[in-house]
Amino acid sequence: METIRRTKIADALSSTHFGTDINVKGWVRTHRSSKVVDFIALNDGSTINNIQIVVDPTKFADELLKQITTGACIGVTGKLVESQGQGQASEIQCEDIVVYGECGSDYPMQKKGQSFEYMRQHAHLRLRTNTFGAVMRIRHNMAIAIHQYFHEHGFFYFHTPLITASDAEGAGEMFQVTTKNLYDLKKDEEGKIIYTDDFFGKMTSLTVSGQLEGELGATALGQIYTFGPTFRAENSNTPRHLAEFWMIEPEVAFIDLNDLMDLEEDFIKYCVRWALEHCKDDLEFLNKMIDKTLIARLEGVVNENFVRLSYTEGIKILEEAVAKGRKFEFPISWGADLASEHERYLVEEHFKKPVIMTDYPKEIKAFYMKLNDDGKTVQGTDVLFPQIGEIIGGSIREENYDKLVAQIEERHIPMKDMWWYLDTRRYGSCPHGGFGLGFERLILFVTGMQNIRDVIPFPRTPKSAEF
Ligand code: 4AD
Ligand code: MG
Repeated sequence: METIRRTKIADALSSTHFGTDINVKGWVRTHRSSKVVDFIALNDGSTINNIQIVVDPTKFADELLKQITTGACIGVTGKLVESQGQGQASEIQCEDIVVYGECGSDYPMQKKGQSFEYMRQHAHLRLRTNTFGAVMRIRHNMAIAIHQYFHEHGFFYFHTPLITASDAEGAGEMFQVTTKNLYDLKKDEEGKIIYTDDFFGKMTSLTVSGQLEGELGATALGQIYTFGPTFRAENSNTPRHLAEFWMIEPEVAFIDLNDLMDLEEDFIKYCVRWALEHCKDDLEFLNKMIDKTLIARLEGVVNENFVRLSYTEGIKILEEAVAKGRKFEFPISWGADLASEHERYLVEEHFKKPVIMTDYPKEIKAFYMKLNDDGKTVQGTDVLFPQIGEIIGGSIREENYDKLVAQIEERHIPMKDMWWYLDTRRYGSCPHGGFGLGFERLILFVTGMQNIRDVIPFPRTPKSAEF
């Protein structure tokens, strides 16, 4: 038989060229056999949907048919025909089968309904399951949506370094980068490690945020965004934290807090709308298998106006809830950082829609946020989402040199590391602001998955860097 070029299963399923010979390749989902007919469900990752291969078992050797087990990789040539069965437009009447890779009964992804915990231990193979296929295709589509949004709106994609000597968030949760011999560290009289002979001649780490360099870009190009890996050595073993995650950080010159909130809301709605439009099959699958309210929740976010309220108003609502008997694990009063349970109470129980909270006490926010006239609060904004809690953190930046230096000194941040950042406030300083969206938190929201470890191919968390 002459060789026919491979057709992707997504294309085969939507093709109406019935009667033509085609070739598909993929991994066997199921193989049901009987004396008169065999059905193979084949998937190649191009779509959540399998194509059905109809096989006349009398035409093929028993040995060959026995090799076609769940997980095996095969190629099939045959006639594309209109499907007799329900739920699919086309199927393939099999004429020829090639087995590329057999798959024994010890295949870890053999059974249906295995726990996500179990699948995490087999993250190298879980990608071949329906759920992870759907999540990864949606992840790809969200990345495209993000670039598309910013490109359409005149933002420039700006690359900030992953290796840095500054702690942008000032939380001290950084992974060090060094070529020093850890078995033989030279120290000075005070016992401090000497870094002058290290690769960069100073102590360096993996970045926790591209924001500080992003501000340099925005105060030159007007509006930029970053989209890259971010690293945090915080020991947070929660379903919302990763040690390595991806962050999107737009930074814009000449905006105020209202503009910033408009941008946050418009951007996130665009991404969710994109998912609804471009990821229909995968969302329908997840809606059926993972969370029956998923699509309704996504449509809700697209159609609703987000609530905008100050931290002080938010605390009032939470204190009233506590007075009425609502129990929280962590105490809450003015000055305290909101825990995820507080954020979710406001979003899921009180307002029942996304909330943009602003004007936080300066003590619980980073040094770069613009101080309000009250001297107590800063122009930070967090976007709080149902199921997720904080999905975006951002702020208007302190553009006044003296006020910024005062914040840096109050927090004992070493000034020698900050000279280049301060230069933006010394030379042509301008009002500006931006935010950071946690990419995996967006994917959590859009897929309805419950654990952030299940929306990135290979999660990095405390005590876990397998694969
Ligand atoms: O609120 P964060 O710490 O803000 C910043 O890093 C600012 N520099 C952003 C800016 O203004 N340019 O982080 C921003 C977002 C959070 O809202 C959250 O969605 C996500 O990043 N995030 C994490 N996602 C997964 N794992 C973690 N450990 C995360 N830490 C933050
Ligand atoms: Mg934050």
